[in-house]
Amino acid sequence: MDSIGIIIIYEETVPFPRSRSWARSPRTRPSSETSRTTSNWKSLGYRSEPAGRGRFVKEVVHAIRERTGPDFHVGLRLSVERYGLVLADMVQLVGELLASGDIDILDLSLWDVAKPPANAPEGSRTLVEHFLDMPRHGTVIGVAGHLASAAAVQRVLDQGADLAYIGKAAIADHAFSRRAIADPGYRAPSFPVRRDHLRSEKLEESFVTYFATNWPQLVKG
Ligand SMILES: Cc1cc2nc3c(=O)[nH]c(=O)nc-3n(C[C@H](O)[C@H](O)[C@H](O)COP(=O)(O)O)c2cc1C
Repeated sequence: MDSIGIIIIYEETVPFPRSRSWARSPRTRPSSETSRTTSNWKSLGYRSEPAGRGRFVKEVVHAIRERTGPDFHVGLRLSVERYGLVLADMVQLVGELLASGDIDILDLSLWDVAKPPANAPEGSRTLVEHFLDMPRHGTVIGVAGHLASAAAVQRVLDQGADLAYIGKAAIADHAFSRRAIADPGYRAPSFPVRRDHLRSEKLEESFVTYFATNWPQLVKG
């Protein structure tokens, strides 16, 4: 089956560090950058507020579905809060996307599957819980964020996720999945790791440099 994965980053910043400048908060971004982003949205015929940005996402995936057909696999990755995203808007958008039949896999980029929403009062539902009880209409939901042990993966699957995505833990241990399946007590090596450890995990020198430069807190030496 053919497939396509789409990553749509639709705020004026990227939710992961491509360079150190990522660390700037949207609030400190020069206003010329923000207004350029806003006018980019306008020039495309979309309003820059959540409804306009949500419409953009829905139209892109719908156009892909229309031009490909029901057997084509469409996956969408979304961040759901911060960086200008409002959780309530994203819950609504996700509900509409799940009901639309336009996506087969929804990949929720949460940074930490166990965290409550930003600025939520103590005792609030976790971020992931806002999405896992929605009707999926056959769409598969995968989640990513701080899954570094077999127990954490099991927990999120028990909560109702269909897929658990492993990021940094699979960088620290390329065999994470196999080991976690074999041993319920398995936990990936913890960060920070040494450059030599990354090399021993079969990572190319260019990736080791990229990782150590952009995530200096995760790499020793
Ligand atoms: C080295 C590295 C590169 C990444 N690149 C991307 C990317 O290109 N697009 C994206 O949506 N997320 C990217 N991410 C975010 C991960 O996909 C994942 O959502 C995030 O790291 C949280 O999961 P984890 O705690 O298991 O690493 C990247 C993360 C890392 C560590």
